[in-house]
Amino acid sequence: MKKFFIQTFGCQMNVYDGQRIAAMLTARGLSRTQNVADADIIILNTCAVRAKATDKVFSALGRIRRQKKPDALFGIVGCVARESGADAFRRIPELNFVLGPQSYHKLPQVLENPDAKLLNIDLGGLEKFDELPRMEHSPAVAYVPIQEGCDHCCTYCIVPYTRGREVSRRFANVIDDCRHAADTGAVEICFLGQNVNGYKYTDNDGRKYRLSDLIRAAAALPRIQRIRFTSSYPTEMTDDLIEMFRTEPKLLPFLNMPIQSGSPNVLTRMNRPYSLDLYIDIINKLHDARPDIQISSDFIVGFPGESDEDFNQTLEIARRIKYINSYSFKYSPRPHTAAALMPDQVPETIKAARLAILDAELNEIQRSFNEACIGKTMPCLYEGPDKTGRHLVYRTPYMQQCIVPANDAAPQMADIKVTAANKASLRGEFAD
Ligand code: 5AD
Ligand code: SF4
Repeated sequence: MKKFFIQTFGCQMNVYDGQRIAAMLTARGLSRTQNVADADIIILNTCAVRAKATDKVFSALGRIRRQKKPDALFGIVGCVARESGADAFRRIPELNFVLGPQSYHKLPQVLENPDAKLLNIDLGGLEKFDELPRMEHSPAVAYVPIQEGCDHCCTYCIVPYTRGREVSRRFANVIDDCRHAADTGAVEICFLGQNVNGYKYTDNDGRKYRLSDLIRAAAALPRIQRIRFTSSYPTEMTDDLIEMFRTEPKLLPFLNMPIQSGSPNVLTRMNRPYSLDLYIDIINKLHDARPDIQISSDFIVGFPGESDEDFNQTLEIARRIKYINSYSFKYSPRPHTAAALMPDQVPETIKAARLAILDAELNEIQRSFNEACIGKTMPCLYEGPDKTGRHLVYRTPYMQQCIVPANDAAPQMADIKVTAANKASLRGEFAD
C-alpha cells in the first residue's frame, strides 16, 4: 500500500484543506504516515501570510528533500504555492507539484503522471469543495467553509492574491456538509471564511442567503449544540447577524472580529475604511444583543508609518474592548501587496518592542478575564485527555481551555464549574 505524508501550516481553512486532501488520498487507497522517509507522496500544505510562514515552508522543504525516498513524489499546495508559482521549482528542483489553494483537487493527476511537473495556481473555483470525497467521521468540532477569498484588499494582506476574490458556496451544499458532520460526530459547527460574515448566496429562484440563514439552519440540527464563525470583517456585521446573538442560544457568546490597529490614520493606510466610532457602535449593539459576549482580535504592530502615538491608540482600544483570545503580529511586508511598497517602513527593533508591550497587555487582559470566570459554571465541550492522562481538557464557550480531574465518564458536553485560573487556562470540576 502506498503511503502519503502531509504537513499543514497556517489557518483553519488550511487545516480544513489538509483534511480534505487526506480524505481524497485515503479514498484512493493510500494510507497516512507520519514518517517522511517512509512516504511515497509528500505534501506540504502551506501558509504565506507572513514572511516567516513562507520561510518555514522552504526550510521544511530543504530538510525533507534530504530525508525522502529518492522516488517519492514531493510538492507543495496552498498559499505558498500560489505566492511562489514556478519560482518554487527553481528553488527546489526536486519538487513534482505546486498547486494553489483552489487547485489541490488536481492532486490525482500527480499520482497518474509521476514524471510530470504539475503547476496549477488558478483561482476562481469552488470546485474543490464539492468535488472531493467527504470525511467519513467528523471531529466534535466541524469546520465548514462557506466562502473563500476576500474583496476587502487590506494593503498588508497577501490573501486576496493567494485565495482570490470572494466566492460564496451554495447554501444547500453548506447545510448538507453540516448535516453530514452532525450525523458523523459533530457537536459544534464553526463556519469558516476569510471574510465569513460577507457570505452572500442567491439561488436559482432569486432567494438570497446570508450568514444568519446558515446559522439558523445549522441550529435546527438537533445534534449540533454550539455554533461559531471566523473571521469577521467589522463593516459586514449586519443587523440580522447581530440579532442572531440575541435569538439563537446555540450561537456562542464569542466573536472574532479583528480591528488590526486602533489608529484611524493607520486604518486608512491599511485600507480598512471604518471609524473607531463605528467599530465601537457595532460592539455596543452586540453587547445589547448578548450581554455576556466577548470579542477577540488580531493586531498588526509596526505597519508602515506607525508612530508611537498610533501604537498607543492600539493599546487604548485593546484596554477598552478588553479583547480575549487575541493574536498580535509584527507587520511583515509581502509580495503582491501595496503596503510592501510604502515609505516609512518601521525598523525591526521598534516592531519587536511594540509587540512585547502589546502582548503583555493582551496577556494581562486574558488573565483578568480568566480570573473573573472563577466560580462560574459553563457548558463545555470535551476535547480529549491531557498529556499525562490524569486530566480531561474541555473548551469553554469563550474557547478557553478548562482542565478537570479525570473521571470515569468524559461526557461530550458538560457543565463545568471553574475553580482556578491563570493567563493560559482554567481549572474546573463537573458541576452537579
Ligand atoms: N504582516 C503581519 N501580519 C499579517 N496578517 C495578515 N497579513 C499580515 C502581514 N503582512 C495578520 C492579520 C490577520 C492575521 C490572519 O494575520 O492580523 O488578521
Ligand atoms: Fe495563511 Fe492566509 Fe493562506 Fe490561511 S489564507 S494559509 S492564513 S495565507
